[in-house]
Amino acid sequence: QRVVRTIPIIFHVFTDGLGAENLDELTIQAQVDQLNIDYADLAGSTYAVSADTEIQFCLAQVNESGIQLDEPGINRVTSYGDGPFTRNDFDTSMKAATQWDPTKYFNVWVADLSGGILGYAQFPDNSGLDGLNVDGGPANTDGVVVLYSSVGSIANPNPNGGQYNAGRTLTHEAGHWLGLRHIWGDGGCNVDDYCDDTPLAGDANYGCPNVDSCVFGNTDPDMVENYMDYTDDSCMHTFTVDQSTRIAAVMDNCPRRMELA
Ligand code: ARG
Ligand code: ZN
Ligand code: CA
Repeated sequence: QRVVRTIPIIFHVFTDGLGAENLDELTIQAQVDQLNIDYADLAGSTYAVSADTEIQFCLAQVNESGIQLDEPGINRVTSYGDGPFTRNDFDTSMKAATQWDPTKYFNVWVADLSGGILGYAQFPDNSGLDGLNVDGGPANTDGVVVLYSSVGSIANPNPNGGQYNAGRTLTHEAGHWLGLRHIWGDGGCNVDDYCDDTPLAGDANYGCPNVDSCVFGNTDPDMVENYMDYTDDSCMHTFTVDQSTRIAAVMDNCPRRMELA
């Protein structure tokens, strides 16, 4: 039986009110559609171990005071201009100043970012929980930051996002936010992502290569189509059974926070 957890998102769009970073409602909706396709294993995975994570996302309908939003899921923030911003700008002040209650919303900050970064996430806080190997930060920086030009979908790709224009950056970052590691374990062939059904990989992959980076003790090629690699958006189509199990463990056990209605 499928037991879906639906997580309300608020997109904090950092903009001066003009320009491509000021994403319209259609683009935001396209991104949520892509998340829901990817997290339900509807992206055409070719792997037997692919899985429906039973996580879905929706646009927040009300603000923190319970007032209906004019634009569901969108909070336009104009007080900081249109950037570009650094990770430090977000983590030391802008996140905390704009975050909505992280027990009720998945906070996604959308902005022009400097330094070629597509996005980044904060792991869930697993204090008091052994074995998950995640270690999140404080509640007031909980959420993910995404480059505006990466927001979109396969059906509605962002015109400014190059090979990262189809919404998979948020699929990837939400994966971290739900406790998933990179498939190369951020180490090498000796470091795992704590998921047995994602083959060992030595490093991040780019593009969409055919590669087997860890030939000792591992006969499977790298799962470059996994959302937790660094390959092109058009290459990605898979979360696995073990990744899905990990997400469920996080949702069941981590003190985040999310009180799902
Ligand atoms: N944090 C990664 C980066 O900034 C995200 C990679 C997302 N990959 C993608 N195909 N959209 O590089
Ligand atoms: Zn990552
Ligand atoms: Ca693995």
